[in-house]
Amino acid sequence: MISEWPQSLESAILGRRTIHSFKTAKVSDDLIERAIDVACWAPNHFLTEPWKYYLLSDGPKAQIIEMNYKKNLTNKGARFAEVKKNRWQTVPGWLVITSKRSGIKKEEQENYAACCCAAQNLMLYLWTKGVGVKWTTGDIIETSSFANIVGFTTSTEKPVGMFWYGYPETIGKQIRQPLKNVLFRV
Ligand SMILES: Cc1cc2nc3c(=O)[nH]c(=O)nc-3n(C[C@H](O)[C@H](O)[C@H](O)COP(=O)(O)O)c2cc1C
Repeated sequence: MISEWPQSLESAILGRRTIHSFKTAKVSDDLIERAIDVACWAPNHFLTEPWKYYLLSDGPKAQIIEMNYKKNLTNKGARFAEVKKNRWQTVPGWLVITSKRSGIKKEEQENYAACCCAAQNLMLYLWTKGVGVKWTTGDIIETSSFANIVGFTTSTEKPVGMFWYGYPETIGKQIRQPLKNVLFRV
């Protein structure tokens, strides 16, 4: 009933948390595809529909994990690199979202904003189905090697993030500032 859905939207917004550890069970293709379909109903200026979604299979996942391992080995040492690698290998679902570049600054900004709205749609929808997401934006997503593995061109697409998804192993807590710190009546 329509009188109920704003309440459940509110509880989805308030309850959604970034998930850092996942159960091993995979999320079905049907569910992630539905989530992406829903995500695309985000507002987008001039109907640019600037998003692309790349669902990664085991091959690209392994290549990204290896790339990150090598980077960490050089910069942070073997122990750190190994811990990260093991952790990344446990992530069941990998999705990359990119935003359309156009060469026009304002348009690209608005495209990125629209993609962020789409990302939140996706995360909230999945949350209502018991699936958690971690949006990550580490350095590697900006590299050309990452784009090559995923299969997009950096001159026409900007990475918005890597979205790890799966059934939460644990759900952390978060806080937000009180409204008085962020709301100004002017
Ligand atoms: C654009 C963006 C990039 C983010 N990148 C990372 C990241 O690289 N690593 C990470 O642990 N969390 C990342 N996060 C998740 C935030 O850390 C998280 O949203 C924040 O701690 C608040 O927690 P909550 O999502 O549970 O409310 C990112 C979130 C956004 C919106």
